[in-house]
Amino acid sequence: MALYSRITGTGSCLPPQRLSNADLVSKLAAQGVETSDDWIVERTGIRARHFADDGVFSSDLGLVACRAALQAAGLQASDIDLIIVATSTPDMVFPSTACILQHKLGANGGAAFDVQAVCSGFIYALAVADAMLKTGAARKALVVGAEIFSRILDFTDRTTCVLFGDGAGALVLESGSKPGILASDLHADGRHVGILCVPGHVAGGQVLGDPLLKMEGQAVFKLAVGVLEDAAHATLAKADKTASDIDWLIPHQANIRIIQSTARKLKLPMEKVIVTVDQHGNTSAASIPLALDHGIRSGRVKPGQTLMLEGVGGGLAWGAVLLDL
Ligand code: UT7
Repeated sequence: MALYSRITGTGSCLPPQRLSNADLVSKLAAQGVETSDDWIVERTGIRARHFADDGVFSSDLGLVACRAALQAAGLQASDIDLIIVATSTPDMVFPSTACILQHKLGANGGAAFDVQAVCSGFIYALAVADAMLKTGAARKALVVGAEIFSRILDFTDRTTCVLFGDGAGALVLESGSKPGILASDLHADGRHVGILCVPGHVAGGQVLGDPLLKMEGQAVFKLAVGVLEDAAHATLAKADKTASDIDWLIPHQANIRIIQSTARKLKLPMEKVIVTVDQHGNTSAASIPLALDHGIRSGRVKPGQTLMLEGVGGGLAWGAVLLDL
C-alpha cells in the first residue's frame, strides 16, 4: 500500500508585543531614522508586526504553535516521532532548535533537526517531512517555522528594519493511505548568496563580521517573482494539475506586490489568496504556516480543498508544495 502524508492539525503563535507602522515609525524617529506609514504600506502592504520580548526564543514561539497543532490533530506530544524546525534565528548555535523544542514539548526520543533555508525554510521542511513519512521513516511529524527576526535587524537601516516580524507556525503531518501532499518542487541558486544575508559568524569566542540582516531589496524582488511562478507551475505539472485546481494560494508573506504578481501570473483572483503580511510583516520561515493556520482558523481554508504553498528567500532558495487538505 502506498504511503502518503497529510496535514491533520495546525497552530501558530504571535508574541504579544504588536507594533503598528505608527509605533515603529516613532520608535525609529527617536533614533534619527526616517520612514513613514505611507511608504511602508505602499511598497510592502505591511501595517503591523509582532516582536518577541527579551528572553523569548524561537523554540518558545514554536512550542505554543506546536501545542495548538497537536490539539487540533487530537494527538499527544508523545505520539510525535519527527520534529523539523525551519528557522534562521535558532535559539543557539547548537543543538538544533528542534531538539530544544522536542524537550520543551516532552516528545523526546524521535528524530529532530533544523532546516535552514531562510524564507523558503518551511517549504523545504515540509517537503523533507513528506519524503520521510512516505518512506515510513516516521509516522507523525511536527513541521514548524519559528523565527525571531527582530534580533537580527539593523534598526538604523530603514530599507530592512520595517519589513520583518517574529512568530511561529506549526503543523502535524501524519502518514496514511490517503494523499495529502501531492507534489513539491525545491530549488536554490547560490550565486545570489550576497543579496540577502546575515554575513557574520562566530569564531574564537567572538562574532566576526556583521551579524545583522542585509538585503538588496530590488534584486530579491525581481528574482522572487520569476522563480515563484516557475516553482508553482513545476509543482502543478508534477501533480498533473493546473492552476484552476487551486482553491487557495498560501504564499510566503514578504510583500503584497510579490503576492499579487504571483496570483496574477497564476490567474488566481486575490479572493483565493491568504494574506497576512499586513498584520504580521515578513516572519521568514514562519510566514507560511502562520498564514495557513490563520486561513484554517478563520474558516476560509477547509478540509478537501487544494492548497498551493510557496516561498522564496535568502540563498536564493525557493520552492512550492501542492496539497489536498
Ligand atoms: O522574505 C525574503 C524575500 N524578500 C523579499 O521578497 C523582499 C523583496 N523586496 C521588496 O519587497 C522590496 O524591494 C522592498 C520593500 C524591500 C523595497 O521596495 P522598493 O519598491 O524596491 O524600494 P527601493 O528599494 O527601490 O527604494 C525606493 C526608495 C529609495 O529612495 P530613492 O533612492 O528613490 O530616493 C529608498 O531609499 O525608497 C527609499 N526607502 C524608504 N523610504 C522610506 C527605502 N526604505 C524606506 C523606508 N522608508 N523604510
